[in-house]
Amino acid sequence: MAKPQKHVFVCTQSRPPGMPRGSCYEHGCVAVMEAFLRELHQRNLVGTVAVTNTGCLGPCSFGTSVLVYPEGIMYGKVTQDDVAEIYDQHLLGGIPVQRLLMPEFVWG
Ligand code: FES
Repeated sequence: MAKPQKHVFVCTQSRPPGMPRGSCYEHGCVAVMEAFLRELHQRNLVGTVAVTNTGCLGPCSFGTSVLVYPEGIMYGKVTQDDVAEIYDQHLLGGIPVQRLLMPEFVWG
């Protein structure tokens, strides 16, 4: 197995209705995950980019949360419509998508 150049983790955590933290599931993470996988195959990037679903990454109210390594860049409020831009600009172009960066205050 080749070591990927980029590894994308998409939070697909769900929680029961009414839980105060909510979850990325409520924010459409399934469609985001499917979009990342669809683009991965359409662009023939298997082996270069890895896409993995994961549990809660922390800032649930800013879901869907997406984490990209090796940079450790986290995106928030990602929708399926943002995924092509993340591929074009960041995963292939090397420049994070500024407008989607998780705000610093979520860690405060
Ligand atoms: S449920 Fe996705 S970041 Fe917490």
